[in-house]
Amino acid sequence: MSFQLPKLNYGYSDLEPHIDALTMKIHHTKHHQGYVDKLNAALEGSDLNSKPIEEILTNLDQISEDKKDAIINNGGGHANHTLFWELMTPGGAKQPSGALQEQITKDFGSLDKLIGEVSSTAIAQFGSGWGWLVLDQDKNLEVISTPNQNSPLMLGMIPLLGIDVWEHAYYLNYQNRRPDYVQAWWNIVNWDIVGQKFQKAVH
Ligand SMILES: [Fe+2]
Repeated sequence: MSFQLPKLNYGYSDLEPHIDALTMKIHHTKHHQGYVDKLNAALEGSDLNSKPIEEILTNLDQISEDKKDAIINNGGGHANHTLFWELMTPGGAKQPSGALQEQITKDFGSLDKLIGEVSSTAIAQFGSGWGWLVLDQDKNLEVISTPNQNSPLMLGMIPLLGIDVWEHAYYLNYQNRRPDYVQAWWNIVNWDIVGQKFQKAVH
């Protein structure tokens, strides 16, 4: 058993103009593939590679010290990107509905306020990292950022939505304009998937 690069549900050019085809292709086939390959190399010979990556990242205390950084960086990279691809869809998908919509209104006031908070948090992340909407240990919605490929799972939180703000996610099209990329990204978010993850996480 080993971890595999997930297939995308859309073509590399399908998220244009918000994310260009070349960025998508390199991001998926080079960056994500690199995390998968290095994760597999780090887990070679252990019995951990038969476990879901979420379980490994939630139980890092079971990883030996010499492997820990490799698992955090590459296991995190694999989990984060797997979610990231799933969260996007050509043309975006509507608004949050049902229980997620109610929770967003309760915790943030409105969807626009939530989007503003995730955006400013992602934009403010110094260097490479991610902006997140998570469900925290008390099952509250929370906006956080993490550096590098650190996963919210390592903090005991369940990621519901994450935006990759590594330069590899946007530099070809947006150069140094991270805020423009973050703003454009909301046009391709699939809120149905976020809602499904929320439902699964609260139960
Ligand atoms: Fe990335």
